[in-house]
Amino acid sequence: MCGIVAYIGEKDAYPILINGLKRLEYRGYDSSGVAILNGDMNVYKKKGKVQDLIDHVGKQRVKGNIGIGHTRWATHGKPNDINAHPHVSGNKRLSLIHNGIIENYITLKEALIKLGHTFESETDTEVLTHLIEEIQNRDNLSLEEAVRIALTKVVGAYAIVVMDAENPDILVAARKASPLVIGIGKKEFFVASDATPIIEHTKKVVYLNDEEIAVVHRDGNLSIKNIDNKLLTPFVEELNLKIDAIEKGEYDSFMLKEIFEQPSSILDCMRGRINAEEGWIKVGGVETRLEDFLNARRIIIAACGTSWIAGLIGEYLFEELARISVEVEYASELRYRNPIINEKDIVIALSQSGETADTLAALGLAKEKHATLYGIVNVVGSSIARMTDTGSYIHAGPEIGVASTKAFTGQITLLTMMAIYLGYEKGRIPRPYYTQLLRELENIPNKVSKILEKDSHIKYIAGEMKDATNALYLGRGYNFPIALEGALKLKEISYIHAEGYPAAEMKHGPIALIDENMPVVVIATNMSAHDKIVSNIQEVKARKGRVIAIINEGDNKIKDIADYVIEIPETDEPLTPLLSVIPLQLLSYHIAVMRGCDVDQPRNLAKSVTVE
Ligand code: G6P
Repeated sequence: MCGIVAYIGEKDAYPILINGLKRLEYRGYDSSGVAILNGDMNVYKKKGKVQDLIDHVGKQRVKGNIGIGHTRWATHGKPNDINAHPHVSGNKRLSLIHNGIIENYITLKEALIKLGHTFESETDTEVLTHLIEEIQNRDNLSLEEAVRIALTKVVGAYAIVVMDAENPDILVAARKASPLVIGIGKKEFFVASDATPIIEHTKKVVYLNDEEIAVVHRDGNLSIKNIDNKLLTPFVEELNLKIDAIEKGEYDSFMLKEIFEQPSSILDCMRGRINAEEGWIKVGGVETRLEDFLNARRIIIAACGTSWIAGLIGEYLFEELARISVEVEYASELRYRNPIINEKDIVIALSQSGETADTLAALGLAKEKHATLYGIVNVVGSSIARMTDTGSYIHAGPEIGVASTKAFTGQITLLTMMAIYLGYEKGRIPRPYYTQLLRELENIPNKVSKILEKDSHIKYIAGEMKDATNALYLGRGYNFPIALEGALKLKEISYIHAEGYPAAEMKHGPIALIDENMPVVVIATNMSAHDKIVSNIQEVKARKGRVIAIINEGDNKIKDIADYVIEIPETDEPLTPLLSVIPLQLLSYHIAVMRGCDVDQPRNLAKSVTVE
């Protein structure tokens, strides 16, 4: 949520910042801006996408080798040119970019107004800029010290970079609860919300921790202090990220690329963790805490959005295969109620980005209650990965499309492996079934590829659905969460209102909505409830609903009654979600494209929600 990029070195800052902003645009895209120092502080800001900023700057020659840039997802103040970052201090000396929320900004603003400050924007960020200015001027402090003292007065979350026109040889960066990475080049530094704007310049990075303040100097010097003014030693890490992983390549959108990457991303998630031939499966993070898992009173899964839906599948898997009791919680709810959590509980935070503010806060609460903290994340080095006691990466590679696809299947793959591993260790899965599950799991990438080959058929069905204003998704058992995910994908990117429901619950409400205009997508691959699903489809047809059914290959019974079918290969029921979600991703994708929507950057959404 909001992307930050900054540069200091010998090169022209503007193209580096603009390229960085394009890479970060998935984090927010309602307005953007840059400030470049070249004697004067030159600030360019524009409502809209980064391209609108580029058009606004036009042919002006923006010179200078120090600068900061920002792409915004509005929290305080609507998206417009004035509220866009960077924000500038009253004396025009400082400019600042910010990701996060300054919660006590009203109190700070009132105090600053009394001191004679005036404000142009409605943002909390401008208040922070003036606060730093006030402290710097009042005591004639260095920028670093003024920033440090200002941050002791701030309540909330921030990742900031500050630039000072009277000290053009440094940038000051700081973070609390919002991510920030420093890239170290030869006599140049990059600062960004994540590594994607940095990777094309250098692989050497330092991830800032909470309440740390860094000063990068043009001469190549980097120093880090904490907010208590204690000097720290920077921990330099090597990035393991390839540039083509963050480019669209031959695809029209990141989302389509990421959907089609799933055979390999699922394989990458399983790599080194499973060998059906030798008959073993293990998940490192679980192995190191095996006793905790085997003795756990229960597992609580905390997550948001699509990750929460993956958590629901985790509940079905852990309870069926490992017989461990599971609760799945919206992280935003868990953090603000008074849940019963103790040291016998394992709290799993499920998050693609590893930065979601509510999930991080829920983990904080679980930590206070002495639970074991387990992180399942995609982004290496992210806050959740660093905060948890143990955990596993899903290794899906960078996911840039705002709607999650390959991270979702990566999360389910990992949860499936954990459940099988624990179930077998607990003696809950007989050896023949265990071997069968391992074989089937290894086969999943091939089966996903087979589904992807049906893309043009799915596109045809999308054409039949594209004008709907509402849609209903129904599923039972493992396919109920998939119904939720199918509906979420459709509303996120095509803006068609959609609801996911347990198929049998349809009779308790949604059935009232069904008529000839209502497409009903039924995920009908579970053989254990086949007859019941057939009855549900009959009920929809009896009310003239249009049924699009996801079925196992050769399921003629449903083929005869549904209006459209998408056939997918059969698999063991606990593995079904890994296959049944794929056609729904493609269906939403094609519908959104046909409706002219921007699938990678749907309106009002952001990839990484770093504010609560
Ligand atoms: C946002 C994204 C979703 C994602 C959710 C949780 O809403 O648009 O795609 O599922 O955040 O994000 P996380 O990074 O914690 O999985």
